[in-house]
Amino acid sequence: MKNICIIGTGYVGLVSGAGMADFGNSVICADIDTSKIDMLQDGGIPIYEPGLKELVERNVNAGRLSFSTDIAASVKNAEVVFIAVGTPMGDNGEADLKAVEAVATTIAKNLNGYKIICTKSTVPVGTGARLEALITREKESDYDFDVVSNPEFLREGSAVKDFLIPDRVVLGVSNEHAGDVMQEVYRSLFINETPIVVTNVPSAEMIKYASNAFLAVKISFINEMANLADKVGADVHTIARAMGLDGRISSKFLHPGPGYGGSCFPKDTEALVYTGEQYGVDFQVVKAAIGANKHQRDVILAKARELLPELKSKTVAILGLAFKANTDDVRDSPALEIIQGLEEAGAIVKAYDPIASENMKKFFLPDLDTRESVVETVTDADLVIILTPWNELRGLGLEDLKEHLNAPNIVDARNVLSVDKLKEHGYNYRNVGRSNI
Ligand SMILES: NC(=O)c1ccc[n+]([C@@H]2O[C@H](COP(=O)([O-])OP(=O)(O)OC[C@H]3O[C@@H](n4cnc5c(N)ncnc54)[C@H](O)[C@@H]3O)[C@@H](O)[C@H]2O)c1
Repeated sequence: MKNICIIGTGYVGLVSGAGMADFGNSVICADIDTSKIDMLQDGGIPIYEPGLKELVERNVNAGRLSFSTDIAASVKNAEVVFIAVGTPMGDNGEADLKAVEAVATTIAKNLNGYKIICTKSTVPVGTGARLEALITREKESDYDFDVVSNPEFLREGSAVKDFLIPDRVVLGVSNEHAGDVMQEVYRSLFINETPIVVTNVPSAEMIKYASNAFLAVKISFINEMANLADKVGADVHTIARAMGLDGRISSKFLHPGPGYGGSCFPKDTEALVYTGEQYGVDFQVVKAAIGANKHQRDVILAKARELLPELKSKTVAILGLAFKANTDDVRDSPALEIIQGLEEAGAIVKAYDPIASENMKKFFLPDLDTRESVVETVTDADLVIILTPWNELRGLGLEDLKEHLNAPNIVDARNVLSVDKLKEHGYNYRNVGRSNI
């Protein structure tokens, strides 16, 4: 088992750090955000992620997991250093690697023995080579190091399970020794016969982008099918189910909605297109998926206008702000653009999310009128729009809900409500690909 340091204690760094500690490694999670580390040292968890608190507690109590703001000391203590800082979208769609490079420089300055430096952040192909050159240039000792790529595939909302029982682990290495050390880090999974793909660094870097871009294409594809289904009286759920029964297609990621969001697909698809341009490769399919995704926000706004042609001074209740259920992450959430579109049209917006309201106000919409419950939010509303498929919203009592509304209008942008029940209770409704069944 290995001494590990993870730099960047966000959604990925914290879950991976706690997960690797659970595999038996000794892990320090480091971050420059002192409030985050203070909170973790006090037993708090800075993000909402089911099962994370228990995983962190278990490993802290076992003495395998600790937290630090002293990045230099954490690097010096480790044989394997993971970089898990953010790689947000830069000006031209490219991945902004400033934080990754800052961390790599700190690692170079604190190289006190042979180390493996592993990118867990999503970084464009070629970054491994770039970091190797940077660290060689910046290091102040003669110690050797290897740069490894170990992209992360966890999904927010089920991150703990995804990390502990992954579909696969991808290791991009440039020599056998680095591969052996990385397999030791993941030894528990190795024993469990989790597929471990060992390849070179550029392939590993590309696997992450290829996977995310493919899933984004799948979502945009089914959204376009849903848009046609709406026009012709077909049911997209039945279409998706029947498509998914074909083993070559699979039923996963064929759920229509307001378009993908979150901290990964939007930026990773743009970054892949940018990388393609650098190499003279035109990613036409991915570009089309990005365009269709942007358009899907307008599709939802158009559905709102179908039910309420004049939005000015009308009250719209937004149910769900997180980009998906079971997370507090609102980065690139469809709710952002849809709320902005409604407000531009003069609507009065009230919003509710079981977990993510605080983040939406803190990071993006400080003036948003958020409420503490569904009932409070929908009271006197002229239109309800469901944007996140939280279980709480799946279970909405439609009869009771109607009593609170000014008018029984619902856009169910996640198809969580029963069409039969909506009809039974006399709602005017739109959903995505099932409105005319
Ligand atoms: N969130 C996901 O679902 C997910 C899944 C797979 C891969 N990824 C990738 O993982 C990476 C991290 O994503 P995230 O969602 O965990 O981001 P995040 O914003 O939640 O966390 C990043 C952390 O890095 C810290 N940080 C920034 N600069 C630093 C520095 N110089 N030194 C130390 N710490 C620093 C920040 O304070 C923050 O706590 C990204 O590249 C992302 O694309 C994310």
